[in-house]
Amino acid sequence: MATNRTFTMIKPDAVRNGHIGAILAQINEAGFRIVALKYTSLSTQKAGEFYAVHEGRPFYDELVSFMSSGPIVAAILEKDNAVTDFRKLIGATNPKEAEAGTIRAKYASSIGENAVHGSDSDDNAAIEGQFHFAGTEVFA
Ligand code: PPS
Repeated sequence: MATNRTFTMIKPDAVRNGHIGAILAQINEAGFRIVALKYTSLSTQKAGEFYAVHEGRPFYDELVSFMSSGPIVAAILEKDNAVTDFRKLIGATNPKEAEAGTIRAKYASSIGENAVHGSDSDDNAAIEGQFHFAGTEVFA
């Protein structure tokens, strides 16, 4: 069995557009269990740290500015094959390429403002979860 946890953020666009409830419901209906959850925000500095792996890419400044533009919802999710299954549930980075019914196809407006984040590997899921949550905030 592959890893059983992934990390997600509902991004500022989806929060602003009132989609928190619908997105969390779709996540639950797909069989993910929420083991940590936080309504929070990222300072520019924190967003820069979170996305440091993308520093130097043409969209980095825009991404950091967008991710610190308003509140987000951060969560750690549990399910067999969590990373892979969650990436399928959210769909392609560019919502124009996302499969119908995926979270990005339904709620994202552009490649920059694409509603949700999902970890891309088991290692990053662990790192990203620890970035947002203390051990005492995770309920296994
Ligand atoms: S990669 O190459 O697979 O690592 O990149 P990708 O997953 O496609 O994108 C990494 C994150 O950068 C965001 N992104 C963008 N933001 C703004 N503008 C543009 N053009 C753009 N392209 C990619 C993308 O939403 C990813 O954010 P996260 O939070 O990881 O989903």
